[in-house]
Amino acid sequence: MRIAAVGDVHMGLDSRGQWRPALRELPERADILLLAGDLTRHGTVDEAKVVATEFGDLGVPVAAVLGNHDYHCDAEHDIATVLGDHDITVLEGTSMTLAVDGTTLGVAGTKGFGGGFAGKCASVFGERLMREFAGHTVEVAAALGSALAALDTDVRVALTHYSPISDTLHGEPREIYPFLGSYLLGEAIDAHGADLALHGHAHAGAERGTTPGGIRVRNVAQPVIRAAYAVYDLHPAAV
Ligand SMILES: [Fe+2]
Ligand SMILES: [Fe+2]
Repeated sequence: MRIAAVGDVHMGLDSRGQWRPALRELPERADILLLAGDLTRHGTVDEAKVVATEFGDLGVPVAAVLGNHDYHCDAEHDIATVLGDHDITVLEGTSMTLAVDGTTLGVAGTKGFGGGFAGKCASVFGERLMREFAGHTVEVAAALGSALAALDTDVRVALTHYSPISDTLHGEPREIYPFLGSYLLGEAIDAHGADLALHGHAHAGAERGTTPGGIRVRNVAQPVIRAAYAVYDLHPAAV
């Protein structure tokens, strides 16, 4: 199962036609394309239409999570509808499955959120705003865990925008780690299992890392992979 992935393409109205040429050979190289959020620059519906045109009708299934930029205009539901109209499945605490040559793939996704990493993280305590901030991460991590747990496929991928681990943030200033991801996402992935975890958001981070439970994590933010997409080849665990 060959998984193509990219995040943080940050498309604006001037991006129309810019990506399509680089995607021409994708159907020969991969079985699915996963988009790891921050698909738009400012979260407008018009930008989402550009994303839909560039990534729609590619010849392989496309699934996405949204990123913080895609929420900037409070139009995330309309953006998901525009993408959905072009057969781009937007995951948020949900999953999708696909069969390729007798092997099944399940992808569970959420935008995720921040909060930081074990020992240096926000907690659901104090002011209402702080409880809401930390509580949102608790909720989306639980939803990711439930979506993973519900998958009964040969291969499972966790797709988020925010990072589940700190390894793939190396290169970013430490001061902003709490705004780049949360260990709760990593705990959910370890608790319910996956063959690969993909995220974006950390433009200055590193591509490769591992959860505490040993699951491969890849930061596919476009400025990190420096390509139109990266491809990861996954094989079902030997029975
Ligand atoms: Fe981004
Ligand atoms: Fe982001």
